[in-house]
Amino acid sequence: MIRQGFADRPRARACVAWSIAILSAGQVFFTGRLEAGQPRRPDSPVARGRALFLRVWTPDDPRARGGDGLGPVFNERSCVACHNLGGVGGAGSRSKNVDILTITKNAPTAQGRDVDKARSESASALPPADDIEAMAMIHSGFAASQSLVLHRFGTAPNYEAWRQNVMVSDPPDRNSHAASRDDASEGNRELPESAKRGAFSLKRSQRNSTSLFGAGLIDSIPDEAIDVPPRSPGIKGRPNRLKDGRIGKFGWKAQMASLDEFVTTACSVELGLEVPGRHQAGDPLGCEREAKQFDMTRQDCDDMVAFVRSLPTPIVRTPANALGRKLFETIGCAACHVPKLGEVEGIYSDLMLHDLGERLQDTGGYGTFTPSRPSREDPLGSSLVRDEPKTEGAARTQPRTSAGELEWRTPPLWGVRDSAPYMHDGRAATLEAAIDLHGAEGHEAAERFRLLSNTQQGQLIRFLQSLAAPRKATSLASSR
Ligand code: HEC
Ligand code: HEC
Repeated sequence: MIRQGFADRPRARACVAWSIAILSAGQVFFTGRLEAGQPRRPDSPVARGRALFLRVWTPDDPRARGGDGLGPVFNERSCVACHNLGGVGGAGSRSKNVDILTITKNAPTAQGRDVDKARSESASALPPADDIEAMAMIHSGFAASQSLVLHRFGTAPNYEAWRQNVMVSDPPDRNSHAASRDDASEGNRELPESAKRGAFSLKRSQRNSTSLFGAGLIDSIPDEAIDVPPRSPGIKGRPNRLKDGRIGKFGWKAQMASLDEFVTTACSVELGLEVPGRHQAGDPLGCEREAKQFDMTRQDCDDMVAFVRSLPTPIVRTPANALGRKLFETIGCAACHVPKLGEVEGIYSDLMLHDLGERLQDTGGYGTFTPSRPSREDPLGSSLVRDEPKTEGAARTQPRTSAGELEWRTPPLWGVRDSAPYMHDGRAATLEAAIDLHGAEGHEAAERFRLLSNTQQGQLIRFLQSLAAPRKATSLASSR
């Protein structure tokens, strides 16, 4: 079992000297020239939000509101770098996937272990102090959570070298060690999927960037429209009821209830920005730096939310394949990919969690930790931020009610023509491959798809391909 939130043990870490390196890998510039379909008033909240969405941040950015700008750790330099397929606000390519690292203690060897003792240890609320210390030596965030985002970049000069070595097993496998030395300067190299570090195992999993078209409408769907009985026998599904009673609608695990929260979290997690209510993601190299000032004000965040909410809704390209749409319903796809939810026509999702089988299982949780100054109540000074708003005191380390390892939110299929690759980690390059991965609750529908004739399969796929990104979306070329 994965336990989260045990940030109450001392940590041994050497803090590396702090300095700023301007990273050059993969930088993209968007200047945000206004085009047709964009807000006409350059000073409107939406226009200001759009400029923030396109902004390429730098460390110590002079445009920050007194904060330190990008970092100390970040996954990209702008929102649009990951959200751009089919236009500004779209999904992201696989190369922009976010890495999640999960640590587990290796099972003890049968010899020399008292089974009862092992069992009672694993049932206790916290891992032993020695374990926490050892895990924090691998990534200081493991002092707060067993699963967290492994950021692609850091502003510390040795971040890239450190990152390349996180997943090098010890004793080092000679090949991977050599590779990590050679490639360390190139950045962005794919890390291994698993590694053994001492008594622990590390697993790397991924999340693909979702499309934000129509997110404003999703935000408007009332909880009552989501929390309904199963629509079809054999389909279980459940809404992700968060601790505060609201239903999660956003994210691959339906982990967040509102657009506002997701946008401000993205600022802190993806770009390392300090924003009201969210600390910037913490530096795993252990520099206990608490951001002194905000990078974005509440007004800036509101503007960004206003922009994301204003993004156009995906369209149906005519002619939609009527036979294909019918098949989509008759073989059972629409039991989860519900065509109309609440008042929102054409979403093709029930926004519920479903078990799609072990092939898609993932232990990872989309969390970051935030170092803060140690205090008596919080001696470690490190707290877990797991897709939930910042609260003070002990509550900060509490994980929210979450989706299980096998559960995923039914992704809305509107715009699906332009959002490949598919599934939570982008492992499916094509629509056919995505359908093929449906197991457990989705198995029967996928099996019925396999039994269709080639012609019928083609019709269903052509129907899905009529669900496209909005024409009004501004292309990257025109924003450049
Ligand atoms: C490094 C790539 C990356 C960057 C940069 C990025 N995102 Fe995302 N975004 C993702 C991923 C991955 C997800 C899915 C996360 C999940 O569900 O666990 C996501 C999901 C979202 C969602 C939820 C959409 C839905 O329907 O579930 C919103 C809203 C969002 N991002 C907004 C933003 C904003 C605003 C910014 C800039 C502050 C931003 N993102 C920057 C990768 C990125
Ligand atoms: C039991 C509910 C359920 C049924 C039935 C179902 N799906 Fe899905 N579908 C899901 C879930 C959940 C995911 C996301 C899984 C993941 O990310 O790992 C998904 C993902 C997809 C995706 C990828 C979308 C994206 O943005 O990545 C496509 C395409 C898709 N389904 C099409 C279909 C089709 C076509 C059928 C009928 C043959 C179908 N689904 C039946 C629940 C369902």
